[in-house]
Amino acid sequence: MRLIRSVSALSAWRRRLDREGVFIGLVPTMGALHAGHRALIRAARLSCDAVVVSLFVNPLQFGPREDFSRYPRQLRADAALCRAEGVDVLFAPSREDIYPAGFSTVVTVPAVSRRWEGESRPGHFAGVATVVTKLMALVRPHLAFFGQKDYQQAAMIRRLVADLDLGINVRVCPTVRDPDGVALSSRNHYLTSAQRRAAPVLYAALRAGGAALLAGARSAVRIRRAMQRVVSSEPKARLEYLAVCDPETLEPLRRVTDKAVLLAAIRIGRVRLIDNMLIKR
Ligand code: PAF
Repeated sequence: MRLIRSVSALSAWRRRLDREGVFIGLVPTMGALHAGHRALIRAARLSCDAVVVSLFVNPLQFGPREDFSRYPRQLRADAALCRAEGVDVLFAPSREDIYPAGFSTVVTVPAVSRRWEGESRPGHFAGVATVVTKLMALVRPHLAFFGQKDYQQAAMIRRLVADLDLGINVRVCPTVRDPDGVALSSRNHYLTSAQRRAAPVLYAALRAGGAALLAGARSAVRIRRAMQRVVSSEPKARLEYLAVCDPETLEPLRRVTDKAVLLAAIRIGRVRLIDNMLIKR
């Protein structure tokens, strides 16, 4: 595996592959790699000749009161995981390389990113869209891999890639969960053990919403109520939003006809957890 730390070295590597006609997969990450990232890397390995994992803690996607400075940074452990998984290139650029002096472009995808996480975290999705566009322009992958855990992010990136005709296939891989249902996330490390014991309530709420739907509930109000009951059974959980949405536009639905995505965000202490469930009848 090659560890590449600059944009110029990455571009030189990429130009060589152009001549060889290699099919390239990109797994964008912010590091602190866990089994969820490993699943993305494995999916990339299965369908691509060369796999690039990018590791960049993107300052643009953190709000002023968010955890940019304490976000886990563990390059050595991440590199070991990538090496063990057969990654070809780990691209870990510096902040100055990605955002050199004078950088002023912002990419926004308002339709899909306006609500939910967009409302709770102003500026977050513009930060994600900007860095992902830049990474895609640098790596020029054929396929890019994202986790379903960040459903709205993945929907936004699909829209962005389609709107800008980037010619990249976006693959969204299933959420990897702990045995108690908690979706893997680097932010789970911030939970105390008592808080971690409360965290399964989020997925339990989504399951209750899914069960209500499968039992015949069609109105979003009823489905949300089923989820809400579960969240309020956990005193440590503070509800941020529960939504029943169209899976592509992420606009709220009044009634579910054939498919829907349930989106949920809660806070446990200072830790914000999100999760989702895609439902097709
Ligand atoms: O999902 C993430 O880890 C980040 O939002 C991403 C896509 C790597 C962009 O910084």
